[in-house]
Amino acid sequence: MARRPSIVFVCQECGAQSPKWLGRCADCGAWNSFVEERAPDPQASAAAAHRYSLAGATGSARLYSDIEIEQHARLTTGIDEFDRVLGGGIVPGSLVLLGGEPGIGKSTLLLQAAANLARSLGPVLYSSGEESEHQIKSRGERLAVGRAPLYLLAETCLERILEEMARIRPALVIVDSVQTVFSLKFQSAPGSIGQVREAATQLLFAAKGQNVPTFLVGHVTKDGSLAGPKALEHVVDTVLYFEGERHHSHRVVRAVKNRFGAVSELGVFEMTAAGLRAVPNPSKLFLAERPANAPGSAVLCSVEGSRPILVEVQALVSSSTFGNARRMASGIDQQRLALLLAVLEKRAGLNLVGDDVFVNIAGGMTVDEPASDLGVVAAIASSVRNRVIPASTAMFGEVGLAGEVRGITQASLRVREAAQMGFSRCIMPEANLDPALEREPFRRAEDRDRPVGAAPDDAALHRAGACELIGVRTVGEALDFLMS
Ligand code: TYD
Ligand code: MG
Repeated sequence: MARRPSIVFVCQECGAQSPKWLGRCADCGAWNSFVEERAPDPQASAAAAHRYSLAGATGSARLYSDIEIEQHARLTTGIDEFDRVLGGGIVPGSLVLLGGEPGIGKSTLLLQAAANLARSLGPVLYSSGEESEHQIKSRGERLAVGRAPLYLLAETCLERILEEMARIRPALVIVDSVQTVFSLKFQSAPGSIGQVREAATQLLFAAKGQNVPTFLVGHVTKDGSLAGPKALEHVVDTVLYFEGERHHSHRVVRAVKNRFGAVSELGVFEMTAAGLRAVPNPSKLFLAERPANAPGSAVLCSVEGSRPILVEVQALVSSSTFGNARRMASGIDQQRLALLLAVLEKRAGLNLVGDDVFVNIAGGMTVDEPASDLGVVAAIASSVRNRVIPASTAMFGEVGLAGEVRGITQASLRVREAAQMGFSRCIMPEANLDPALEREPFRRAEDRDRPVGAAPDDAALHRAGACELIGVRTVGEALDFLMS
């Protein structure tokens, strides 16, 4: 008897399966997310399972001490900022997912990296399901790809891509985008969660089996997450997100998962007529257009991954003409803003009832670490009191509900960046001035003879090279200092 292909309904958000269509996923609660998919033929999957074994795996368990460590040099993409987000270059055999909104520069960045790697390592396969070879080539001309051994393949069939991989034996594979790829084994549409998962898994085994690093481009959905999110993020080794606004020329690539490096590591780029250009000094970029002598502007030192970045936070407080006051945040979390406003009202005596509050991180950056609190609070207070914060002052610190300024991590990194950028004063949590913790590199000249750990006489004041460090315990103290 001929077997009917069995049909399953799969939630496109979380991958849950059901024999019947459901309006709401019982697992993740998403509405209207079930799509009909054909279940793969069990015989075919059993055969395929044989190919699904990782490189060098024998199928039987091995003793920990018998396994030799493979020391592979990382491959450099020739773009410093890209290497940095990857944790120091590409790990051989790794699978990397690069997500981002349409038109933000994913294809551009990967084509640039592909050309560099083709020049230094040999053949690179760039498979695109979105553009024709001619389109890719005309882009490549702008990026000065030249005569590198770069193979272009306009293909969406997964099996064909794997065939070409076996034929060309590339040093790097790029699949742009994973949502356009479909496997002949599945009958559901490309981009559905079953297809995306199948494509990612097969490419994973190809990458590990042949020790070829592979980049997947992933589209993001309306709410900013990767399409087929969980399924994909679990499969790959590294997830990178492209951020930035189309109206700004700079772009940020952020690592959100990395099996081979620090997460939240950043790479900063600028989109130019000749492709993406690495920005080695982002603080300079983000502070470039800072207004002079304007109330409501503060500079905060944030740390992304291992890199300190100074950004300007701007606040505007104006009386509301409508019944309910508006609070708008861009670049910082809206909830965090609400909390900080409550602290300002209750603990620092600022009256904000009936006022509109707008807070913006200049240049389209996003900061989400608590150390940015003090900068946000200072910018708001500066706008309310119409007092200018001195242009040479930078700050960082977490603000607690009692109005206290709490210590944060990596204070010395932040201070060093501020000093390097020419700031002469740093307002920071008193706790971070603890001699045992952070003070070592910044000891005052007259303190040098004192043993480390001994309390300095006036703990509130230290000098870090040319940068004066001022420790504060409360928001009130910080504001008094900034606006006296
Ligand atoms: P693209 O890499 O195609 O985006 P994605 O693959 O993420 O969808 O980026 C296209 C944008 O970049 C497009 O708006 C044009 C711009 N661009 C430049 O400004 N300079 C260049 O050299 C290139 C190639 C693109
Ligand atoms: Mg593209």
